[in-house]
Amino acid sequence: MSAPHFDFTAKNVMVFGGTSGINLGIAKGFAAAGARLGVASRSQDKVNAAVAQLGNDHGSALGFSLDVRDAEAVQKAVHDFVTERGKIDVLVSGAAGNFLAPAAGLSPNGFKSVIDIDLLGTFNVMRAAYESLRKPGASVINISAPQAWIAMPFQVHACAAKAGIDQVTRTLAMEWGPEGVRVNSIAPGPIGGTEGMERLAPTEEAAEHSKKAVPLGRWGEIEEIANMAMFLSSDMAGYVSGAVIPVDGASSCGRSMGG
Ligand code: NAP
Ligand code: COA
Repeated sequence: MSAPHFDFTAKNVMVFGGTSGINLGIAKGFAAAGARLGVASRSQDKVNAAVAQLGNDHGSALGFSLDVRDAEAVQKAVHDFVTERGKIDVLVSGAAGNFLAPAAGLSPNGFKSVIDIDLLGTFNVMRAAYESLRKPGASVINISAPQAWIAMPFQVHACAAKAGIDQVTRTLAMEWGPEGVRVNSIAPGPIGGTEGMERLAPTEEAAEHSKKAVPLGRWGEIEEIANMAMFLSSDMAGYVSGAVIPVDGASSCGRSMGG
């Protein structure tokens, strides 16, 4: 991560699903800007590896191995983080699952698994963090995707889950706004070097096709999503709440001539 453009010194940031890919990049961005981090995901090995990368002069990162579908485990992690660090200033909800599957061949449990990780998981982490978040200046970033408003074949589960997340964003921006809490979604376009694109564009041919469909002609970088998360959580975005912000090289604007 290059020199930080943002200052989150003395701020506490919890990133659910923050142990790999885009969400780990967001955690690294905040850590480079001085924040003290908490990260959570299922794999203890991934949690340990992330924690080892996220400490800074302001404190070591705290890690939690949990499944966001387990509301009690999420509540306990929030409790333990707040006991150690005192408060949460920024909450990032980014845990997700996705795979390509035609709806007719997707089992109800396959559909439910993605809805539960993405949508119920986002509700669980926001609900658990509410008591610690509810103060002026607090920010929630939910990680959505353009699938929330652009239907994509073979992703009925992710399309439905991400659309639900954006309505959670808008609804809780309204409920929590009076307390000074801002709630926004970031919708990344295709981002290079991630598990998501390994799954959605698994061949070189599919990757090239996907890049051509982006008006800017390339996949995004993880740091570009981290930068948006920090901007949205900074005072510079003090009047931005209830927004769903695409960071996608214009790929969700319409049909591309290249795709
Ligand atoms: P990733 O590396 O697989 O990140 C997913 C993270 O969530 C991992 O840390 C994973 O760790 C954790 N996770 C998954 N299921 C979980 C569960 N049930 N409970 C707790 N943690 C869980 O994928 P990514 O591609 O970077 O995607 C990150 C986010 O960006 C997702 O919300 C995704 O939908 C969104 N997004 C990605 C793209 C893209 O181009 N990649 C585009 C649009 C949106 P564990 O395995 O240890 O649980
Ligand atoms: N196609 C169709 N169905 C699939 C599938 C696929 N590729 N992968 C899993 N499923 C189904 C399973 O068959 C199962 O349904 P069943 O019980 O009716 O057989 C259901 O989904 C749950 O699978 P399971 O492996 O038990 O779920 P899990 O909770 O361990 O893992 C996933 C969740 C399936 C979303 C898994 O892919 C995951 O952990 N993903 C996280 C990483 C990721 O997706 N990153 C990209 C983020 S964009």
